Amino acid sequence: MPEHANVTTRKILTTTVGVPATDGDGVRMTRIIGSPELDMLDPFLLLDCFESDRPQDYIGGFPSHPHRGFETVTYLLAGRMRHKDSSGNEGVIEPGGVQWMTAGRGIVHSEMPEQDNGLLKGFQLWVNLPAQAKMAEPGYQEFSPAQTPLEIRENGTEIRVIAGRTSSGTEGAVRNNFVRPTYLDVSLPAGRSFEQVVDVDDNAFLFVVDGELEVGEKGARLGQRSLGILGAGERIAVQAGSGDTRFLLVSARPIGEPVARGGPFVMNTRQEILQAFDDYRHNRF
Ligand code: CO
Repeated sequence: MPEHANVTTRKILTTTVGVPATDGDGVRMTRIIGSPELDMLDPFLLLDCFESDRPQDYIGGFPSHPHRGFETVTYLLAGRMRHKDSSGNEGVIEPGGVQWMTAGRGIVHSEMPEQDNGLLKGFQLWVNLPAQAKMAEPGYQEFSPAQTPLEIRENGTEIRVIAGRTSSGTEGAVRNNFVRPTYLDVSLPAGRSFEQVVDVDDNAFLFVVDGELEVGEKGARLGQRSLGILGAGERIAVQAGSGDTRFLLVSARPIGEPVARGGPFVMNTRQEILQAFDDYRHNRF
């Protein structure tokens, strides 16, 4: 690869397909990060994928519940969900749009399917906050599909830029200075290649939604519904297999602080988790 002689290309370190899980009011999903197999990938605490056309798998939704200490990112590929929170925000999330919620010191929200039948498919990602921002005022960024940049390349590649910046300069909608995330939803025609420049020490993963990817210079295969954690490097290079391929590329700067989890709260210490439960119980959110 002479033209990239001085640039390190990332390799797949490990892969996981996650485990079946149930959350909210009986919503069936696959937990890909935050599972016994992959506890976290700093700063990513959790990645859930829900995909079903059976209403009984999702109709219960995620009724009112609290969060503190991190951010939740909801991104849909199919279907619609209505969200509402204690800061007075409300809206409907649609495919191609994103809701990026900074829970900070505390927020209570719900996410309910805005449909009685049909396919509901999407992701929820939890992004940690550094200690200095865990008790900040809650924040909220929501972008409709029309407000979320879609880059279309000459070779037919389509990139929905939720956060970060593509090599062609398309800038994502979401702003986050804590971990500088990149979150791309890439549709790659069969056999086509895609490259993304990333900070060398950022943590990064790929998740294949449809099709199959060849990753890195040696073309290690990553199959459908698999997540591949990438090693360090300045460049991510992939090629679609024999069919059209869709994948998520997500990266961010690791925080490197202790993580204490307690259900819907993620803090630095056990004591702070107990405080969160106490504050929630006494309506101090
Ligand atoms: Co939630």
